[in-house]
Amino acid sequence: MNKHLLDRRQFLRGAALGLSLPAVSALTAIPAAAQSTTTGAPSKSAARTVKLPSGTTVPALGQGCWHLGQDRHPAATEEEALRTGMSLGMTLIDTSGNYGNGRSEQLVGHVLGGERQRIFLVTKVEGDQVAGDGIARACAASLARLATDYIDLYLLHWPVPSTEFASVVTQFEQLRGAGKIRSWGVSNFSVSQMEDLLRVPEGHHCATNQVPYSLNNRRIESDLLPWSRQHNIPVMAYSPLGGDKHLVVKDQTLAQIGSTHGCSAAAVALAWVIRGGNVIAIPESGSPEHVKENAAALSLALTPQELQTLDKAFPAHG
Ligand SMILES: NC(=O)c1ccc[n+]([C@@H]2O[C@H](COP(=O)([O-])OP(=O)(O)OC[C@H]3O[C@@H](n4cnc5c(N)ncnc54)[C@H](OP(=O)(O)O)[C@@H]3O)[C@@H](O)[C@H]2O)c1
Repeated sequence: MNKHLLDRRQFLRGAALGLSLPAVSALTAIPAAAQSTTTGAPSKSAARTVKLPSGTTVPALGQGCWHLGQDRHPAATEEEALRTGMSLGMTLIDTSGNYGNGRSEQLVGHVLGGERQRIFLVTKVEGDQVAGDGIARACAASLARLATDYIDLYLLHWPVPSTEFASVVTQFEQLRGAGKIRSWGVSNFSVSQMEDLLRVPEGHHCATNQVPYSLNNRRIESDLLPWSRQHNIPVMAYSPLGGDKHLVVKDQTLAQIGSTHGCSAAAVALAWVIRGGNVIAIPESGSPEHVKENAAALSLALTPQELQTLDKAFPAHG
């Protein structure tokens, strides 16, 4: 965890001041099941989707799996949570070969079953696995744990030195050519690392950059978010509820806004993260009830006044 935080600080170092909020973009449709909430509240807008550079459309809200399969909740409950999210339109699932030493991927593989075709499956390879044919070997191990024969999006979990980008991209492209992965991307990359990536051959095939983004952590608004919009590379927001240590789900302002929409504070926080049209949020929950709450964000439209209220309650550089 310390390494994780250190790396994240390194990633964030150098972020300049200045706020650039994404514009609200056109929304497209829509898993019908995502249009209702457990509270029975009517849907406020079409379910949000995000278009990847390849043209593939994915739901703006997926499901993170970092702690799944590791006894935080009973495995059956976590599996039910994932299935609940899938049935409510959260069909993008994010895991990693290193989450619980592969146990997260195994649980996801178990849940996928006959649903594989309608799931957009994301998993990751570590920076210390990229030497030689390491990515292909890590990919094969992930495919076995996930009990599938392809990964929709394969991410480099943390940056490696930029001198290694060309080799990483070559390996990703080989896997894509072999049909083992359908697209690839990166995670925890800064703007300058993204610029280095785009300089290597086929680096522009990068589908996304997965980084932390929530009301409690708005740092990417000063640089990476506008850069990503400009380059048409969607951001995938991890820890969109603030992560375990800075969860926003008990915040009173969020709860108050939620009460006017008939949804929870968590749903409001997630609707804020995906408000701009080029951000995909991947909240994690092993609780079916929480997942139902979260799914409401897919079709929740916050008003300009509510966005302003949240801007004041969670200042970008506070
Ligand atoms: N690329 C990277 O370096 C990186 C780093 C961190 C995370 N990630 C990815 O991003 C995903 C999400 O990030 P995260 O787990 O750090 O943070 P998060 O999604 O912001 O927060 C997860 C926490 O929120 C709770 N929660 C979820 N919905 C809730 C609700 N409606 N009400 C109350 N509590 C709720 C969960 O508990 P319950 O299970 O009890 O609901 C869990 O404790 C991870 O699973 C992983 O896939 C990627």
